[in-house]
Amino acid sequence: MEIKKLIEESEHYLMHTYNRFPLVLKKGRGIKVWSSDGKEYLDFVGGVATNILGHCHPKVVVSIQKQAQRLIHVSNYYHIEPQIRLAKMLVEHSFADKVFFCNSGAEANEAAMKLSRRYFKEHLGQNKFEIIAAVNSFHGRTFATLTATGQDKFKIGFDPLLPGITHVAFNNIEALKNALTQETCAILLEPVQGESGVRIPDTDYFKQVRKLCDDNNVLLILDEVQTGMGRTGRLFAHENFGITPDIMTLAKGLGGGVPIGAMLATDKVAAAFQPGTHGSTFGGNPLVCAAAITTFEVLIEDGFILDQCRRMGKYFKKKLEDLKKEFPEIISEVRGMGLLIGMELFRDCAPMVKACMDRGVLINCTAGNVLRFMPPLIVTEKDIDHLADILEQVLDGLS
Ligand SMILES: Cc1ncc(COP(=O)(O)O)c(C=O)c1O
Repeated sequence: MEIKKLIEESEHYLMHTYNRFPLVLKKGRGIKVWSSDGKEYLDFVGGVATNILGHCHPKVVVSIQKQAQRLIHVSNYYHIEPQIRLAKMLVEHSFADKVFFCNSGAEANEAAMKLSRRYFKEHLGQNKFEIIAAVNSFHGRTFATLTATGQDKFKIGFDPLLPGITHVAFNNIEALKNALTQETCAILLEPVQGESGVRIPDTDYFKQVRKLCDDNNVLLILDEVQTGMGRTGRLFAHENFGITPDIMTLAKGLGGGVPIGAMLATDKVAAAFQPGTHGSTFGGNPLVCAAAITTFEVLIEDGFILDQCRRMGKYFKKKLEDLKKEFPEIISEVRGMGLLIGMELFRDCAPMVKACMDRGVLINCTAGNVLRFMPPLIVTEKDIDHLADILEQVLDGLS
C-alpha cells in the first residue's frame, strides 16, 4: 500500500493517542531502520530505550522462531519452562528472590504498588498504605501509575485518581523525610528520571533514601523500566548508587522488543502475594520469555555489551559537550548515564527532531526542550560521529 494511503488509514482507524511522524518503518537491523519508501535511518530512539540489542538481533529472531514452533502461549495455571528460566536468570543477577511477570512497565509498577500495600496491610497487619513518588516522575498510564506519575499534564480529565499517593521533589532527601508519615508503605522512584528529561540524582541521594526506608519500615520501589537491563552501563541502574531496593520493576529492554514486564522483590516482601492476589493472562508467556532469555544472554555475555555501553556513553557525552561549547546559546546542559543521555536546549527541541529525521537520523524530544538519546547498546563510535555531524549541521542552521 502506498505510504500516503497507509498514513490516512492510520489516522482513520487508530485512536489519536499519539502525534505520529509521517513515517512508516518497515525493516530494522542493528541500529538501522528503513521506511516503506526505502529510506535508511540511524535509530537513536531504539523504541524508547527498548531495543537494547538493536533491531532484529539474529539470536533473538531465532529464539522467537523456535519458541513459536514449540509453544506460544499457555496459562499461568501451569508451570512454563522459559518463564522459570528467565526468573532464575533475573534472580541470579539481582538483589531479588522472586519475580512476577506481566506485559508492560505500567503493569509492573501497578504490581509493585499493590504488593507494597498488601505487604503491610494484609501480611503484617499494619495500617500503612501511602506511597510517596517524585515530582517529574513517569510510571505509566494506568490509574495507579498515572497517579504516581509526578506530572500534571498526563492527568488532565482523569480525576478522581487513586488516593494515598503523594509527591515530593526528586533528589531532595529533606523533602522525602518531611513527607513520611506513620502510614507510608513505600517510596517509589526512578533511579534516573528518563521521561522528564534524563534527570540524574546526586551520588549519595539513593544511599540516603535507602537509609530513610530502613529506619522507618518503608519499602523502596525502584522503577527501572527505562534504566534497567544495561541502559546505564550496569545491569540495573541502582548498582551505580551502591544500594538495592526491596522491589524493582523492569520492562522495555527486558524483552529486547517483545512486550514483557517484570516485578522483582525480596522473599520477605514477595510473600505478601498469595495465589489469587495478583495475576496476568499473558504475563511471562513462553514466547516473550524465550525472547527475553536470549536478549539477557547476549546482554551479559562476557560483559562486553555493558562495557561497550559505558565506553560509548562517555564518548557520546563528550561529543555532545563539544557541541555545547560550539553552540552555547542553544544548548544549556548535557547529562547522562551510560546510554541514556539528555541534551537540554534553551528552546523547544521538536524542530531539531524533524531536521534530523530529514537527514536520516531518528532522535527523541522529551519534556519539550530535552533531546533524549537512547540508542541500542551496540551503538558504535562511527554511529555517534555520524549523529554528531548531523546535529552540528542542524544546530548551525538554527544559530
Ligand atoms: C520509568 C518508566 N516507568 C514506566 C513506564 C511505563 O511503561 P509502559 O509504557 O511499558 O507501560 C515508562 C515508559 O516510558 C517509564 O519510562
